[in-house]
Order: sequence, then C-alpha cells, then structure tokens
Amino acid sequence: MNLLLQSLFFLSLSSIVAFAHESHPLPRPLIVEYPEKAHADGGGDEEEARMRCTSWRIAVEANNLKPWKTIPPECAGYVKDYMMNRGYGFDLEMVAKEAVDYARSVELGDDGKDVWIFDVDETLLSNLPYYVDHGFGLEVFDGHQFDIWVGKAMAPVIESSLKLYNEVVALGFKVFLLTGRSELQRSVTVDNLRNAGFQNWDKLILRGDGDHRKPAILYKSERREEMAKEGYRILGNSGDQWSDLLGSFVSNRSFKLPNPMYYIA
Ligand SMILES: *[C@@H]1O[C@H](CO)[C@@H](O)[C@H](O)[C@H]1NC(C)=O
Repeated sequence: MNLLLQSLFFLSLSSIVAFAHESHPLPRPLIVEYPEKAHADGGGDEEEARMRCTSWRIAVEANNLKPWKTIPPECAGYVKDYMMNRGYGFDLEMVAKEAVDYARSVELGDDGKDVWIFDVDETLLSNLPYYVDHGFGLEVFDGHQFDIWVGKAMAPVIESSLKLYNEVVALGFKVFLLTGRSELQRSVTVDNLRNAGFQNWDKLILRGDGDHRKPAILYKSERREEMAKEGYRILGNSGDQWSDLLGSFVSNRSFKLPNPMYYIA
C-alpha cells in the first residue's frame, strides 16, 4: 500500500472506531478475550445465585411479576449491592439520557400545553437512606415509619433526574409532579423538592381525600385524564413504578426508572 492509501485507510478506520464509541454508551472492545476456564474453583453456585437474582430484577423492571410485597430473601444481598454500588446509578443515567434525547427531539406547540410528568419518590427524590435501615425492601412496607421519614424532608436528589428535569423545563415543557403522597404531606414535599434543587414545576398533584383507597394506577390515570381534558398533551412521563406509567391517558413516551426495592399497584 502506498503512503496515501495507507493514511486514508487509517483515517477511515479511526473514524469508524470513533463513531462506534460515540454511538454506544458502553465501551466496545475490538478484541474480546474469554477467560480460559470460568470459575474452575467451584465459585459457580454463587455466580448462579447472582444470575437468578438478576433474572428476578429484570422481571421486576419488565413488569412481568405479579404484585409482590417484599424482595426474595435470597436476593437481599444482591439488591443491596445493586442499590449501593454503581449498578443502580448506571441504570438511572441510562433512562435519563434516553429521556433527554427524546425531550429534545419533540417539537412543542406554541400554546404552552405540552407536559412532562414526574413521579416523586424514587424518581426525583431518593428514599434510599430510609431503605438502608429497612432491608432494601426485605421488610414489609411500614407506612407509619415511612411517613415519619417523609416528614423529615431529607430525601436526597436523584441527580440524573434533576438534569432531565432542568432540561425539560428549559425546553418549555410544563412540568407536573404526580405523586402518591398525601395532600397532608404537601409542605414537607415542597420543602424537600426545593432543598434537593427542583424549582419551577407547574403543578404538584398529591392524593386528596377521595384518592386514598384507590390503586395508584387508577388515581394517576384519573389525574392524567383531567390534564387531557384541560387540553394538555402529555408527551413524557418518568416514574419508577409501572403504575406511574400505565392505565389510561398514558404519555406519548414513558420512562421507567429502576426500582427493585418495592412494588406499588
Ligand atoms: C403524541 O401522540 C399522539 C397520539 O398518538 C400523536 O397524535 C402526536 O403526534 C404525538 N405527539 C408527538 C409530539 O409525538
């Protein structure tokens, strides 16, 4: 090969490699090396147990499981590792990135009627400090204890969601917060959201007197129906529970944030 051809070849190869890196969030090694013998030392049982818990978590995220009250006891360590190490953060970032890409891609009307809905708990605010003390979902949910925690207004921000939130506000979406929390928790919720960095939402919708016995999926559908009747177009919806996203008057696109700790119908 002459020098010109060689450098052309090199250029095009490097641009392919650069492109491959740009378009994929994960590093793509060009050469994959498999280990000679995986777990020849008999570590296979532990590995298999982890894989079973991964299968369970994927079934949770894909909404394939029937309603569940606690995480499987054998996955307690697995869920803890996932939540406390980088897995959870990576999954949150992946969802937020897709949501930002979508938000930027839609053309908004000029009537101010395009809406993005956010759930609050495990979507904008993290209750992980509470769940650290309650077995990461191993304990049956205790509404009384949880309300005491909520009353402290100390739930930290979910950073990737704050980025998405600021982006959709800047793009001109109306932002409606639709939470299963009670109207009685409005002021602590406002305090907590503000302390965590959230500003400029257009509505904060909490459960009123008539809503407390309703399954979340019904309560949230009813509130979305009201929005639709007021002429709003629900273009994006972010939530950690499928009951935030499914039902009626669903959003054009829904973004399911990870949550292997609890299930709300
Ligand atoms: C949202 O969905 C509706 C109904 O499918 C569709 O008519 C509309 O064009 C969608 N809007 C955007 C911005 O994609």
